[in-house]
Amino acid sequence: MRKKLQRFSDNAQRRNIIEPGKASYVQLKGQWRTDYFNNQHDLVVELGCGKGAYTLGLAQQFPHKNFVGVDIKGARLWVGSSYALAHALYQVAFLRTKIEQLDQCFAPGEVSEFYIPFPDPRPRDRDEKRRLTSPRFLALYRQLLQPGGFVHLKTDDAALFSYTLAVLRSQAVSSLVYTEDLYRSEWLAVHYGIQTAYEQQFLAQGASIKYLRFAFATAN
Ligand SMILES: C[S@@+](CC[C@H](N)C(=O)[O-])C[C@H]1O[C@@H](n2cnc3c(N)ncnc32)[C@H](O)[C@@H]1O
Repeated sequence: MRKKLQRFSDNAQRRNIIEPGKASYVQLKGQWRTDYFNNQHDLVVELGCGKGAYTLGLAQQFPHKNFVGVDIKGARLWVGSSYALAHALYQVAFLRTKIEQLDQCFAPGEVSEFYIPFPDPRPRDRDEKRRLTSPRFLALYRQLLQPGGFVHLKTDDAALFSYTLAVLRSQAVSSLVYTEDLYRSEWLAVHYGIQTAYEQQFLAQGASIKYLRFAFATAN
């Protein structure tokens, strides 16, 4: 508990942690590029980022893009924030908020791409609305994404994966690609060797990793 409290107190002092109570939490909506990153580069957002494996891994691959990792757990964000500081990854920030409230922090069209690595599967029927690929979350992503921006999902969970494909079939999406076995597919290369903490656990248990990517169809 003491360690957690120390992390929360560190987070309160850090510029690369944006969280409720800080001015940046309410001021950056629509202004991330100009007011936080000081550039006009693409803004990639990782949802339920935990320690921020995609945010950090992609930032090292793509110095000319901006990255924001989002999670509700401040102690996990501290780990990613510390890594970013130690490696001078200034195009990285972490946002502590509920994903349900993302539209309080990003403006329509402000996000270039979303990554959703290993979201909680929420298997109970009554939790369907809380799955990060349920229709209400997809409506949020559609609103915040720039036209043609991709959403990427990586999971070990077969039920969540088939649920997501079913939801996508009822939506106007384009460019959908998917594989039930990422490590034996042509899509592995676009992950640049990035493995999240949960992924490493699932791989160690022999699970196959599923991946899909899509964009929302744009009106002609
Ligand atoms: C199963 S963990 C995966 C963490 C990381 N992506 C990984 O693969 O190691 C799910 C993460 O999503 C976060 N999370 C779940 N629901 C959330 C929500 N509605 N808003 C913000 N964060 C959420 C949790 O705090 C947790 O860190």
